[in-house]
Amino acid sequence: MRPAARVQALPPYLFAELERKIDERRKAGIEVISLGIGDPDVPTPAAVVAEAQRQVARPENHRYPSNRGLAEFRQAVATFYDRRFGVDLDPDTEVLPLLGGKEGVAHVCFAMLDPGDACLAADPGYPVYTSGALLAGAEPVLMPLTAAHGFQPNLDAIPEDVRARANLLFCNYPNNPTGAVVDVGFFERLAAFGLEHDIPVVHDSAYSEITFDGYTAPSFLEAPGAREAGVEMFSLSKAYNMTGWRVGAAVGNAGMLAALLKLKTNIDSGVFDAVQLTAASALLGPQDHVRDMCEIYRRRRNLVLAALASVGIDVPAPKGTMYVWVPVPAGHTSVSFAELVLDQAAVVVSPGSSYGPNGEGYVRLSLTIADDDLREAVSRIEKHLRVAA
Ligand SMILES: Cc1ncc(COP(=O)(O)O)c(C=O)c1O
Repeated sequence: MRPAARVQALPPYLFAELERKIDERRKAGIEVISLGIGDPDVPTPAAVVAEAQRQVARPENHRYPSNRGLAEFRQAVATFYDRRFGVDLDPDTEVLPLLGGKEGVAHVCFAMLDPGDACLAADPGYPVYTSGALLAGAEPVLMPLTAAHGFQPNLDAIPEDVRARANLLFCNYPNNPTGAVVDVGFFERLAAFGLEHDIPVVHDSAYSEITFDGYTAPSFLEAPGAREAGVEMFSLSKAYNMTGWRVGAAVGNAGMLAALLKLKTNIDSGVFDAVQLTAASALLGPQDHVRDMCEIYRRRRNLVLAALASVGIDVPAPKGTMYVWVPVPAGHTSVSFAELVLDQAAVVVSPGSSYGPNGEGYVRLSLTIADDDLREAVSRIEKHLRVAA
């Protein structure tokens, strides 16, 4: 059997060797602790689960959903955007339900990119920005994010010929994997850049609610011109610990959303109505849970930073996301340092190079494991990790 060329063109899985080593240790009875995956360990809030139970029991929610989404869901997203960001959305034309941000990111590539187009993607970045572009037959062009530039893309450095060919640009703040955050001024520059060069912008807002130390993340749509320039992908996954529920929304430019809707009517059949109604209740209900989650991640972040400092690795405290982006000690690559941490402390971290070439020289630690496991991981790092090159 011959898989399609587009699937063969996807980059190979880089960390087969690391996974083999993890497996080997687990088989040898070593208790490996993983800080590799960003999937919240804390359950969905009880009130949200209770609402889902109620909605699942209603037969009128059991039929095919519409791709456009329930009016209640779209209105709830609009109300949330108004309360949270002061952004006024038309629920009929500027809100579209998604089966999670990942689905939106992948499908907006098919909605907007033709073969031969360039797709600007942050590097390091969420891998679907490049794989989505490749699957759509377009060329991913990476925008380096470096510590020296605050992990923001240098828009001025994007070559003229790329600007001319690009028909999509992906950004994400608070940023996975670097934990970097921006102020609305960055979004103003981004919107102006998109409009000036006629490049539709997608801001992936998966971590907008996970912030610390008095910082609150803005929405891309707060920037003047943003809704003319593009869309934002909002997700309930991380804000409400709902990764398994698969629900989010694309908001902003009505033309892009219409193209995405047209595409999606040919691919999926929308978000389960019971899930849309539950998501609406989460968006409109009390937000204490979100604040509590941020406090948990802030505390865990500080534990990890202290452990790293104790072995001589100083990392600036990230103001957003549940990740810590750690520069590897001299003499190491991302993969060799991840292997060292596994060998010495039986702790798994993600090599930064899996997020793009500019992730080389870093590893990503995720704060989404239970406090006891995190404390154990941290104490192993403090006791066993010898980082001298
Ligand atoms: C940057 C970024 N975008 C999108 C997603 C996908 O989130 P969702 O669960 O909404 O599909 C993730 C998930 O980890 C992410 O890190």
